[in-house]
Amino acid sequence: MLDLKNPETLPVDAPVQIPRRPRRLRSSAALRESVAETHLRPANLIAPFFLKPGSGPAEPIGTLPGIARLSLDDFLREAERALNLGVRSLLLFGVLPEAHKDPLGLSAADPRGPVPGALRAARKAFGEAVVLYTDVCLCAHTSHGHCGVLKETPRGVRIDNDASLRGLAAMALVHAEAGADFVAPSDMMDGRVAYLRQALDQAGYSEVGILSYAVKYASAFYGPFREAAQSAPSFGDRASYQMDIRNRREALLEATLDEAEGADLLMVKPALAYLDILARLRPITHLPLVAYNVSGEYAMVKAAAQAGALEEARAVRETLTALKRAGADLIVSYHALEAVEKQWL
Ligand code: PBG
Repeated sequence: MLDLKNPETLPVDAPVQIPRRPRRLRSSAALRESVAETHLRPANLIAPFFLKPGSGPAEPIGTLPGIARLSLDDFLREAERALNLGVRSLLLFGVLPEAHKDPLGLSAADPRGPVPGALRAARKAFGEAVVLYTDVCLCAHTSHGHCGVLKETPRGVRIDNDASLRGLAAMALVHAEAGADFVAPSDMMDGRVAYLRQALDQAGYSEVGILSYAVKYASAFYGPFREAAQSAPSFGDRASYQMDIRNRREALLEATLDEAEGADLLMVKPALAYLDILARLRPITHLPLVAYNVSGEYAMVKAAAQAGALEEARAVRETLTALKRAGADLIVSYHALEAVEKQWL
């Protein structure tokens, strides 16, 4: 009878045949480092920034600890910090006061807006050392908070897909003229990549690229962002344009269409609950893939670390590494600067 508490009874003399011992390659830190399969570098990270008009003090965002809405001067300081850390890709979001919003989101194409201003200033200050991406979407500019413009139909108020494309293209052109390297449409209207590509080319901006938020789900994890950008829809939700969380084939279709329409990079968003999507997309496209480690994902880690439930440094390293391992070439993350600065990677 085997008695685990009594070693005498264990068959210790039985010949042990273990043909493979994977633990050998884990036996020291030097060895583990030598066989590590995934490497995350600061150059793989894209740091998001929220830009507000005017010159007031930075406005911290309650649900995104460590992130604030910045004036131009504060942004330039943070951009310099990012470059010094080796994080050279920045993604810019504009935040507009309610008084600047209207049903068409016209302020999106205002060259005096905070994003065009930041593009011009960053380009002047940093030249080619920085890669500037801009979010292209109407939700922070429309009075109703939807990502497109509305129309009355016999079935009620709907998003006017094709009319929305005009506003998005106008916004993209203003960003291109102000010095963006890539415009990043996040609205999920059909055909917007082809439309933006054509608008950019016709205006002489063939060198300006498109990072498409190709696979963007209607997710609960955007909550803190909507506080940051003051862009929550005032009625209804985004389910008629963002993707249904239950779908996988649809993700492959969206990515395939955006590649065919001329996207230079494809994004999957959110990131953590969608690693299966990243992993499936990786072998079917030759374009770089971008994962967006969204605001809710960041807020969860921050809250858990604050509560003493986990070690933030290791949780962030594990999160960002997992995205790279699943197939992301680039990662948008609110953790980017802190993670590099504190050597969490
Ligand atoms: C704009 C946009 C959103 C995010 C990026 N661009 C919000 C939304 O779709 O409601 C979310 C980013 C995040 O949660 O960090 N459409």
